[in-house]
Formats: sequence, C-alpha cells, structure tokens
Amino acid sequence: MAYLLGIDVGTSGTKALLIDESGKGAARAVSEYPLYTPKPLWAEQEPADWWRATCESIREVLKRAGATGDKVKGVGLSGQMHGSVFLDENNQVIRPAILWCDQRTAAECAWITETVGRERIVELTSNPVLTGFQAGKIIWLRNNEPEAYARVRKVLLPKDYIRYLLTGEYATEVSDASGTSLFNVRRRQWADEVLDAIGVPREWMPRVYESPEVTGRVTAQAANATGLKEGTPVVGGGGDQAAGAVGNGIVETGVVSVSVGTSGVVFAFADGPVVDTGLRTHTFCHAVPGKWHVMGVMLSAGGSLRWWRDAFATEEKNVAATMGVDPYELITAEAAQAPRGTEGLIFLPYLTGERTPHADPHARGVFFGITLRSDRAHFARAILEGVAFGLRDSFEILREMGLPITQVRASGGGARSAVWRQILADVTGYDQVTINVDEGPAFGVALLAGVGTGVWQSVPEACHATIQVVSTTPVNPEAHRAYEPYYALYRQLYQHLKADFAEVATLMQ
Ligand code: XUL
Repeated sequence: MAYLLGIDVGTSGTKALLIDESGKGAARAVSEYPLYTPKPLWAEQEPADWWRATCESIREVLKRAGATGDKVKGVGLSGQMHGSVFLDENNQVIRPAILWCDQRTAAECAWITETVGRERIVELTSNPVLTGFQAGKIIWLRNNEPEAYARVRKVLLPKDYIRYLLTGEYATEVSDASGTSLFNVRRRQWADEVLDAIGVPREWMPRVYESPEVTGRVTAQAANATGLKEGTPVVGGGGDQAAGAVGNGIVETGVVSVSVGTSGVVFAFADGPVVDTGLRTHTFCHAVPGKWHVMGVMLSAGGSLRWWRDAFATEEKNVAATMGVDPYELITAEAAQAPRGTEGLIFLPYLTGERTPHADPHARGVFFGITLRSDRAHFARAILEGVAFGLRDSFEILREMGLPITQVRASGGGARSAVWRQILADVTGYDQVTINVDEGPAFGVALLAGVGTGVWQSVPEACHATIQVVSTTPVNPEAHRAYEPYYALYRQLYQHLKADFAEVATLMQ
C-alpha cells in the first residue's frame, strides 16, 4: 500500500495526515506549539517549534498507520500564510517568525503603498498591501531591528521554511507567494518592480512553482529526523486556504467554501485574476495550475469563540471535562437556547482587527446592546451570529463581483457544529453542504502530492475521485428574513465606531 502525506503547519499546531491512493485517510497526528504576543498587536512563533512538531507528527502518523517511510510516495506542504521567517547566511533563523495575524506593520504598509503607488501596487499584486502580508514585515524589520535586517539572506513563508529543512531547497508555490504583496498574481511570478521599488533584494525570495510540482526531495538528514525515506518527492503544496479549498473540492466555478477555523474564510474559484474594485477581498493564485481564487478573510471567526471559551466559559469547560465532551458542544448548545437575534445583542468579531471587508488593523471586538436580560446563552449566540454576519459580508462582495455561487461547502472546526451551520445558512441565505472529508489543508496537499507523483492527472480529477457531498443544512427562509435587519445593524455599527477604534489605538500607543 502506498501513501501520500499532507503536512499543515498551522497556527496552533502541525498536522500530518496520511491518505492512501484512493484518498482514504489512514492516520493523522497533531503536535502543538505556543503563540507569543510580546506586545499588543504582535503575534510570533518559533520556527524551531514548527520543525519539532513536523518531525513529531510525521513519526507519529507513520506509527499510527503502521507504515514505514518508504511507503510514502509523496509529501505536500501547507501552512499558515503570510508569515516571515528570516534566515541568515548560515540558514539560521534570525528572530521569531512574524505571523499572519500580527498587526504591527500599519505604517510600513502605508509606506509601501505610497512608494509603489496605490494603483500600481494593485495592478502588480492584484491586492492592497495589508498588515498581515509579508512585505510590511520585511520593511518593519529594516525600520525597527536594523541589525537583524543586515543579517537577512532569505525570507521564507512558514511552510517553506519546513520545506527548506526537509529538502534543502528554497522554494515556494504560487498560492502562498500571492499573500506577500511581492508577487505578481496575474503573471504568477515575483513582482520585481515592487521588490526594486522598496529595496528588498530579489535573491531573498525563494524559487516559485505551481502547487502540484515537485520542488525537491527529502534529504538524508531530514529522513533521519522524520522517518521518511531519503529522496521522497515534496510538491509545492499550498497556503492553508488554497490547500483547504482543494481539500474541499473548490476547483470549479460556482462551488464556494466557507471555513470557520481561527480565521473565517469565504473562498471562490476563479478562471481569471478578477479583483474587487473595493479591494475588500484577496485575489490570489489557486493551487490549481493556471487558475485563481477570490477570498474574503475575517481574522477572528472560530478565534472569537475560542476567546469566549477561554476568557469566560470556565463553568462549561469544567462540566465538559466531567462529561468527557468538547466544551464547544456545551457552549453552542447553550447558544441555541437564546432567541434568534439575541434580543438585539450584536457582536462585532474584530478581536484582532479585521481584513474583509474593512482592512482595519485597529478595529476591535464589541458587544452592542447588552440589557439586564442578556445572559451567557445570549453572549454565546451573539458570537455565532456576529461571525456569520462577518462571513456574509464576503458573500455580498462575491455577488457584487458577479462570481456565481451554486453550492456552499462548510468546513473547519466551527462548521462541525450543527447550530453554527444553521446560523450560517440562515444569515447568509445559502444552504450549507458538508463533504465526506474533514481534514482541511492537510488533505488538500496530500491530493496535490498525488497529482505531482502521478496518482491523478490533475487537481480536479483528484478532487472528483475522492470528495463527495454528505449533508445539507438548508436555509430556513423565515429565519433568513428575520436576520436581515440585524445584519443591517451589524454593518452600520462598524461605520459608527470606526473613528473610535482609531482613537483607542492612539491611546494604546
Ligand atoms: C489567509 C490567512 C489565514 C492564515 C492562517 O489569508 O491569513 O488563513 O493563513 O490560517
């Protein structure tokens, strides 16, 4: 039996997934690591933790499947996007990696935009320069840690640092490179004009591949560390969103996914590099060669519920521990007790600023409309609804862009909850479909590894061979109508508070 291995270097941990050549999951293993917030708005991780977790999870997944490394035909890499790993001339990590959810680079992003030109940067990279993206982080290092900057010889995205340790190659692929503000998304190559304009050396950037292409082979040293066989091919893989979309079968026009992980993403396949005129969504290369995608990203979706669990739901956590169930089950069951619209309690889920639709690093979380009747159930439900309102913003933009939506596939931890899926259906007005696999990006890159090693001829073929729809949560039309005024109020609240968010940010400086 031959296997394909998918690795996802996520924000909370690294997951290794082994599937067989029919796409059936053989085993999975996860190894976790911490996230550091040394200052407000900062988010960092130690790349050494990712590597330790990668080695551990690969060894563990092989053990669980009862397989040896020589049974693995190919490896695909996925991971949290946009982060920066700075390497020196000896390939040593210079400082902790700055992550996708870090918001420290507002001034640098404004400088890059001004230096390249607002219209020109969009022509070249198909996106605005956002605080989470890589370019701002490089310039931040130059402005704030010049000694560290002087030592930089390579800048890699998180999964590509793991690729370097696995294969010894400096390489990336088009979907992840798209989220750097340094990549020409139309042409699928580095945007030399941007690199030149902001003074970042071209040689710091890794070589770019299409996602299913083989980018290198496991070295003897990495074979020793992971249990894989020396020489095993490693394909490009994808940023976690494009990879997750492949794992959800989002490889043709009309099929759209909504994924509720830490972040919340609405993802649509696109034949060409179409750009939202309001620049509220991202236009990136897809992991399907020669194709693109448009996505709306909210920063705290499942992350908002995790915050609630950790900050306030101590009782639910304790009860869940004695019952042997997941605390989220109790929290969402409690939320289901509150009435639709939570009697006017509205949550703005901007706990770590927001990207789509506001691109505002200063936006903050808000509970609006608290009364004496507001209890824990109301608050929990308001979070589920607020996240659904935020995701609806992305659906509205896709509609405005004229992108067809014929089926919506719900995935990620949040979509496992039937309560949340129903709220998503009712708020967005789209039935929520689930599929037979729920392994996220790791599954998508395992499929890409299969395409790169000849198991399937193309990415759509791999998806059609392995993915089927298993359930539908239909929209309740009455609930959909009832949510409309609440959604309108939700949208209005941000507009009313926008200036106040900026002011509180100034106060914090
Ligand atoms: C996508 C994004 C997140 C991160 C972390 O643009 O920022 O999905 O990749 O998962």
